Amino acid sequence: MTVYLNGKFMPIAEAYVPVLDRGFIFGDGVYEVIPVYSKCAFRLDEHLQRLQHSLDGIRLANPHSNAEWTQILSELIARNAGEDQYLYLHITRGVARRDHAFPQPPVPATVYAMSSPLLPPDNALLASGVAAVTAVDNRWLHCDIKAISLLPNVLLRQQAVDAGCAEAILLRHDPITGSGFMTEGAASNIFVVKNNTLLAPPKDNLMLPGITYDVVLELARAAGIAHEVRKITEAEVRNADELLLTSSTKEILAITTLDGKPVGRGKPGAMFAQLYPLYQKFKHEVMRKP
Ligand code: PDD
Repeated sequence: MTVYLNGKFMPIAEAYVPVLDRGFIFGDGVYEVIPVYSKCAFRLDEHLQRLQHSLDGIRLANPHSNAEWTQILSELIARNAGEDQYLYLHITRGVARRDHAFPQPPVPATVYAMSSPLLPPDNALLASGVAAVTAVDNRWLHCDIKAISLLPNVLLRQQAVDAGCAEAILLRHDPITGSGFMTEGAASNIFVVKNNTLLAPPKDNLMLPGITYDVVLELARAAGIAHEVRKITEAEVRNADELLLTSSTKEILAITTLDGKPVGRGKPGAMFAQLYPLYQKFKHEVMRKP
């Protein structure tokens, strides 16, 4: 496995970061995950745009232009085996004496990228769907930033795994009315289906603006599927006909059990059956060479 670290390609065993890196000390950095199909990065422009949004959110200058990123990532893809991969990009505020405030003067950012085999859910999982639990979304108020400090997400996902489930569906409570609403999954976006309508929570500071989420909404629009982007209540999650999970590595997956109870009929439903093949067709057709 060949990785990229601060301007150089090297075997992963040779890639080291100093212990004073602010990513290690403070979790002070951002990341991206980009799927690669047939050696082409999927929706690269959109991922780089989201990376810029995350960097702006933590006030860190982008160490590379989009042209440079494209060059680095295509070389990484070429140097790693496999047609389908997923790229992980990680940028931290660099190496400096431990102090919470930004290093002054600024130090060079640490830039790391690696590629792993992309293994989307297999046929058995697509046919059965996965189980999920609900959990209180106890993260901060900047969940639109793809921050490397993922401790809340790690604990929430582990809560799901401890219950024998694949994902945690996160709920917050409106501070005024006290009523519950859904944000996203611990590492995915969540759609609700009710009466043949696809419901998606609106992009705001409480969820990561998923690239797969965007693709699914575009596909729904193009296929004339009824859809609404609006706040989704806890009751709507609990009474859903279907629940769908999306992410760059899982693509689209049905959630068929929630908190131990079947979702709808407890099997992937009609909306999943319609969207999944559309996504598969789209991802192969619209790939752009980096
Ligand atoms: N996570 N929400 C959260 C909190 C996520 O971590 C992710 C993806 C998503 C889906 O975004 P996208 O469709 O752009 O992958 C939503 C990646 C895959 C990860 O951390 O590994």
